Amino acid sequence: MSELESIKKTLVQYDQEHILQFWDIISSDERDQLLQDIREIDVAEVASFFKTAVASLNEDGAKLDDRLKPIPPESYGSVKRSSESELQCYEEEGLRQISEGRVGVLLMAGGQGTRLGVTHPKGMFDVGLPSRKTLYQIQAERIIKLENLAYEFTGKRNNITWYIMTSEATMQPTEEFFAKHHYFGLKEENVVIYEQGLLPCFTFDGKIIMDQKYKVARAPDGNGGIYRALRDKGILDDMERRGVKYLHAHSVDNILVKVADPVFIGYCVLRGADCGAKVVEKENPTEAVGVVCQVDERFKVVEYSEITQKTAERVDNDGRLTFRAGNICNHFFTTEFLRKIGNDFEDKLILHVAKKKIPFVDTDGQRYKPEKPNGIKMEKFVFDVFPFADNFLTWEVNRNEEFSALKNSDEVADKDNPTTARNDLYALHCRYIIDAGGKICCSKGSVPVCEISPLVSYAGEGLECLVANKTLKAPVLLRHPTEEKNVAITNGTNGCSKDDH
Ligand code: UD1
Repeated sequence: MSELESIKKTLVQYDQEHILQFWDIISSDERDQLLQDIREIDVAEVASFFKTAVASLNEDGAKLDDRLKPIPPESYGSVKRSSESELQCYEEEGLRQISEGRVGVLLMAGGQGTRLGVTHPKGMFDVGLPSRKTLYQIQAERIIKLENLAYEFTGKRNNITWYIMTSEATMQPTEEFFAKHHYFGLKEENVVIYEQGLLPCFTFDGKIIMDQKYKVARAPDGNGGIYRALRDKGILDDMERRGVKYLHAHSVDNILVKVADPVFIGYCVLRGADCGAKVVEKENPTEAVGVVCQVDERFKVVEYSEITQKTAERVDNDGRLTFRAGNICNHFFTTEFLRKIGNDFEDKLILHVAKKKIPFVDTDGQRYKPEKPNGIKMEKFVFDVFPFADNFLTWEVNRNEEFSALKNSDEVADKDNPTTARNDLYALHCRYIIDAGGKICCSKGSVPVCEISPLVSYAGEGLECLVANKTLKAPVLLRHPTEEKNVAITNGTNGCSKDDH
């Protein structure tokens, strides 16, 4: 049987023969493109995905309250509740693992930044800092600094391998951007850029949507697509080959992210975790972040919409929310755990369904952009592997030190936008300088503009020799001597006037 005949047979079997309805009138190039699309789709699998997804859509949305439990204290570490010596112990363990080459970073950068209103990958976004560094550059430099800190601590130099997951839309621009900027000082072979998978979009009655006569409508399979991509793109093999045992996975859009955070890694390694989540305390019961908790004794992330307001508002004796562990898309995995997911659980991940307006061609070959949702997209979520962990840990960190997400443009929202991202970074970097014995003066009432290059300091360390007993006038930009422009730092009062504070 020819390939085309065999494809036809499968499509008929799963009621999808319309995919070839324009075969006779499309060009030979278009036929090749369509065949390529079809080859990349496991029709039997996606048809069964559709059934599962639709079943979840039709569930009555019964609230989870009765099955919900907060994280037990033994699985719930926190920066605030740890002593200085405990934190130091975790950090040193993290640095040791880094200097052994056992730590990698899994950056999830396949999202399209629609809410931010950009057409290029979010990681390429210039947040408007004095240095004009993009999110990718900030993260790259944090990796470089951490490699150096690990070397200084142990005397052994090694690399942190950076695995960057992109999607169909972000792969090429990301690759070009890194090449153009010489990998921001990292070695090219330690930056591994790969592409996540796609899933076809379906009409509500189960037909795969055609975007063009020769093209299937497909969308990225969500940040939970990472598990399949790691397995199928040979990334797990690469980790095993390099001896990478521990991974820090995070989203691209958190400007404060402590990339490959040695404290979090050390905490998870020393406590024998196979999977972990970094969380921040939820600001209020209605804040739109999922919470990490237990459902039927297994760890999960539960959305605000899945519980009643009463449960969301429940407080402990100390007045803090009972369900306060706000998920920030910041996770720990062992390579072994990722292999286990790839082998045994990837196809069991929940499919989350979103009703969307999906452009389509009708039976006459006419293309339409619908004004109402006409179909569904299916996505997997990165945190849906938590229930499969044998030893899951949660690590709570201080929001103002580690989390400020860039989701929206300044024009559409007051929250999680470039201005809040910049201000959160300035506030943190001011605190670093003050903690190191320096002072900052700026015009009254203004947020002091203060940026410290990651190449100077990863998390506030090593600043005493630069700033102690000095008053810096905002805007402050501390750069490493190796950066193009020189360190913009001055001694003494630097011309602060009485209008400054
Ligand atoms: C995510 C979390 C949410 C958390 C919030 C905090 C998930 C599913 N949700 O929500 O629980 O409270 O962050 O900021 O993790 N991405 C891909 N491929 C995709 C889709 C997304 O790589 O197909 C990446 C994005 O580029 C981004 C990250 O995953 O780096 C998070 O995706 P996003 O859509 O921004 O999730 P949120 O809705 O913000």
